Amino acid sequence: MSAKFRSEDEEDLIRLKKMLRKVLGDDEAQVRRRLESRDETRILDIACGECREAEVLTDFIADLRGNKDGEVRLTGMDVRAREIEDAQRRFGGKRDLENRPGTRECEFLTGDASKLDQHAELGENFDFVFMRHQNYWNGAKTWEEIYDQALGKLDDEGRLIITSYFDKEHELALEAIKRLGGELISSEFNSETRELITEGKSVDRHVAIFKRKK
Ligand SMILES: C[S@@+](CC[C@H](N)C(=O)[O-])C[C@H]1O[C@@H](n2cnc3c(N)ncnc32)[C@H](O)[C@@H]1O
Repeated sequence: MSAKFRSEDEEDLIRLKKMLRKVLGDDEAQVRRRLESRDETRILDIACGECREAEVLTDFIADLRGNKDGEVRLTGMDVRAREIEDAQRRFGGKRDLENRPGTRECEFLTGDASKLDQHAELGENFDFVFMRHQNYWNGAKTWEEIYDQALGKLDDEGRLIITSYFDKEHELALEAIKRLGGELISSEFNSETRELITEGKSVDRHVAIFKRKK
């Protein structure tokens, strides 16, 4: 990874953390109360690639847990075995959290997220399901299956968070997730988003949070 890429990536991740806080908005107090009442917080990161966001995401959740001891567990999944190996090498295993009690544990699995229900080892009732740069345009049918499975893995009070590269792709993903039983809590545009070479494409351009419709 070049120094330029590394520094862009680090800045993207700082902005992602700000966006997570922003999109949580008024929902934050409710999410905090729930996390504070549980010993373990479980995150499923779908289509995570090499999961560069693993630390930012687990830190963000640990912040919400406050000073509560216990574990923040992240499970990442992607169809690409090489990216998953990289993620496991870089972030896999158990570590203490910085400046707070508790531990973080990350594990990564190669698998098809449109068939999550065939992965019994994942378990159910995740507190958060996360999809960074969901890819609706790259096969709407597959991504609708992925969204459906993602909603199915959420606990009743869990939250699904997505980010998107493009305006229109984000809009289509929001509509599809709502159709599949997601209730949109909030969606925010990232005013500091880093533009990429493709016109209209930028990093974590939009971030949205859902819960399951009752
Ligand atoms: C736009 S990339 C985003 C990767 C990563 N989340 C990021 O933000 O850098 C979309 C990812 O979806 C993964 N993907 C596509 N179809 C999938 C499927 N059926 N199951 C799991 N992952 C899938 C791809 O391998 C790719 O890593």
